[in-house]
Amino acid sequence: MIISNIGQLIGIAAQATSALRGDAMKHVGILENAWLRIDGDQFAEWGTMDRFPATDGSEKIIDAAGGAVLPSFCDSHSHIVYAGSREQEFEDKIRGLSYEEIARRGGGILNSADRLQATSEDELFRQSMIRIREVEKMATGCLEIKTGYGLTTESELKMLRVIARIAEATPMHIRATFLGAHAVGRAFKGRQADYVDMLCREMLPAIAAEGVADFVDVFCDEGFFSPQETDRILLEAARFGMRPKIHANELAVSGGVQVGVKHSAISVDHLERIEADEISLLAGSETIATVLPGASFFLGMPYGKARQLIDNGAAVALASDYNPGSSPSGNMRMVMSLGCIKLKLTPEESLNAVTINGAAAMDSAGRYGSITPGKVANFFITDPIPSLAFIPYAYATPIIRTVFLAGLPLS
Ligand code: NIG
Ligand code: FE
Repeated sequence: MIISNIGQLIGIAAQATSALRGDAMKHVGILENAWLRIDGDQFAEWGTMDRFPATDGSEKIIDAAGGAVLPSFCDSHSHIVYAGSREQEFEDKIRGLSYEEIARRGGGILNSADRLQATSEDELFRQSMIRIREVEKMATGCLEIKTGYGLTTESELKMLRVIARIAEATPMHIRATFLGAHAVGRAFKGRQADYVDMLCREMLPAIAAEGVADFVDVFCDEGFFSPQETDRILLEAARFGMRPKIHANELAVSGGVQVGVKHSAISVDHLERIEADEISLLAGSETIATVLPGASFFLGMPYGKARQLIDNGAAVALASDYNPGSSPSGNMRMVMSLGCIKLKLTPEESLNAVTINGAAAMDSAGRYGSITPGKVANFFITDPIPSLAFIPYAYATPIIRTVFLAGLPLS
């Protein structure tokens, strides 16, 4: 298949790279007036329209009609599997309650856990697939999904089975993260140490036995899990080969960055609050700093210091955090716009943060995140646009025209 008449072919890279850090994030490969050849489910080669390849008539030609072509978004942090919704808490927040106050009253994560435990696996799958179809249309091609609304061994396994079914049902690339340490399950109220004990002795081995989680996550934050507890959980998870992706510094400077880097976390995420020494620590490590501007927007929290992180040489990814409490949206174009508007990233930096660096934060940069020969052909065609910057600038204009996953148009 050949896509012809591409106004701008954006996000090309001759070779697969891992995460881009610091100044390297400023560059995006762009070719104007281009064509792009796809072999089966993979990108093959490209060129300019004045040298259109000779075809034998067997290749399908798709006319982009001057639109841009970009690699699909790689959303490395989501909680898209959940039951019901929490707009009641949204109203509570409008009336002045904070996220922490709502959680202390038994709302928040525990509210979602109650609902999920009472929802059958089939129904949970059905509800989650509605959101999966939603983000497919918004050009997400690679998606990490966390557990963490189960909080019992049985319900955490139910979530992982639903994630596995999603991976079968969508042409998107799906990665699964076990987040049993999202909150203390209701049955363990007031007995946090016992919950952590149970998580290490019972949950982790059970999850590992099913072999379904790629990563392990802990909500290491004030009022949730301490760095010491996180340390223990990560140590146990390492025995099962689960690499950490950590929730850190959303509600307070939590120690989560340090414990994450200590355990070679693939990413530490949120970072709404961050100290100068933590920025240096991340810049000097392999750990990706993942910022979630949609959560800052929705909860009215400070925005993460993505600008300083990049200026100091760190690798920054941006993700949606799609979840019912702090970010009920998986719109990665919006995330890219917030990256520019609120985090002060350039359009090039913001695009790299939602594509190649997101892929790297899921250990998937070898096959996703850029238009590179041999990578999976997950991409989208836009209406004609004047430049890359127009994408985050016209932040609500529906310019995505056709989405392709594994070389096939979304039906
Ligand atoms: O990433 N902060 C922890 N977890 C989610 C929110 C979960 C919820 O409120 O349901 C987050 O923001
Ligand atoms: Fe999250």
